[in-house]
Amino acid sequence: MRISLIGAGHIGKAVIGILNDNNNYFLSKFGEEPKVISVSDSKNTVFNKNGLNLNDVLMYKSKNEMNELETSIKFDEIFDLDSDVIVDMSPATKDGILGKKNYIRAFEMGKNVVTANKAPLALHWKEIMESARQNKKKILYEASVGGGVPLFNLNHHSLRSSKLIEFKGQVSSTINYVLNQVIGGLEFKDAIKTAQNMGIAETDYHDDTQGLDGARKTVIIANALLDKNLTLNDVEYDGIENLENVELMKQSGKIYRVLSHVVNPDRIESKLFEIDLKDSLACLDPLSMGYLEKTDNNDDITIFEKHDGPLETAAQVVNDILLLM
Ligand SMILES: NC(=O)c1ccc[n+]([C@@H]2O[C@H](COP(=O)([O-])OP(=O)(O)OC[C@H]3O[C@@H](n4cnc5c(N)ncnc54)[C@H](OP(=O)(O)O)[C@@H]3O)[C@@H](O)[C@H]2O)c1
Repeated sequence: MRISLIGAGHIGKAVIGILNDNNNYFLSKFGEEPKVISVSDSKNTVFNKNGLNLNDVLMYKSKNEMNELETSIKFDEIFDLDSDVIVDMSPATKDGILGKKNYIRAFEMGKNVVTANKAPLALHWKEIMESARQNKKKILYEASVGGGVPLFNLNHHSLRSSKLIEFKGQVSSTINYVLNQVIGGLEFKDAIKTAQNMGIAETDYHDDTQGLDGARKTVIIANALLDKNLTLNDVEYDGIENLENVELMKQSGKIYRVLSHVVNPDRIESKLFEIDLKDSLACLDPLSMGYLEKTDNNDDITIFEKHDGPLETAAQVVNDILLLM
């Protein structure tokens, strides 16, 4: 399994770390080791046809000196390399077009795709999936929604005999952390600052707090679980930048969360919910990820993860790579 990685930020570095630390384990467990032959960030692409030394990649990246390492190639050349999979861990763009073009080009060049990037999937699902089908290639996207919580692979492999009735999930931690802090008494801007200091909110945090990030994830959930071809225009979503009834929420003693909510066949929303204390989602910390699925034959299933961060998301990226391997 020969891999080209796009993105060496929080997730990319954690993926490189997992692959580096577990080389022998993967070899003994699967009889084959995944080999990273190229890594791209926004400025450089480094390449070694026999596999990059991942310790060196991490070291040079931490010093911002990736260009000093191995052979440097142009980003576009990664599509011509002898690789099996391209892994996208670059940032979500507003229009998702760059990711879509990269995936379609990868399929046409005979490569599979693993992605943690929501934007191309939320905006161009149909085109991406059709291209994968036409070129007989696969795209796996477990890490794009819900961080380290198994969602798509679990549904696609373990719940095939059931139909989804309803999905309700906390799959966006930044918006829920900020919301929880505001209900707890902090001013919105102070809650944002705290989240930024913790590394969970970006400098430009509006995609999260205006609800766009949650909406993107909800589209992907609906498309993947209900076999739809929706885009962002098909989802209703709430942000938390202009909350009107914070005082009422503070006094209520209840739990409030922005949740992805899909009801089969056509209710698709990312909304602010008041959660009943008896609800199984009530146990979720704002920084946790988790969801409740009501199905016809498998009854109600709740899956949750206590803490989510880059390592947990990276573990799902690596899992997708291993599934393809
Ligand atoms: N962080 C999470 O917990 C989490 C969870 C689930 C999904 N995701 C998704 O995973 C992706 C990566 O997240 P992250 O937190 O790792 O982001 P990040 O820390 O901002 O890292 C992004 C990486 O992509 C590189 N990059 C930017 N534009 C590029 C381009 N045009 N071509 C190649 N590389 C490019 C950046 O290069 P430089 O290093 O040169 O800036 C950086 O290495 C995002 O799509 C995000 O939405 C993140």
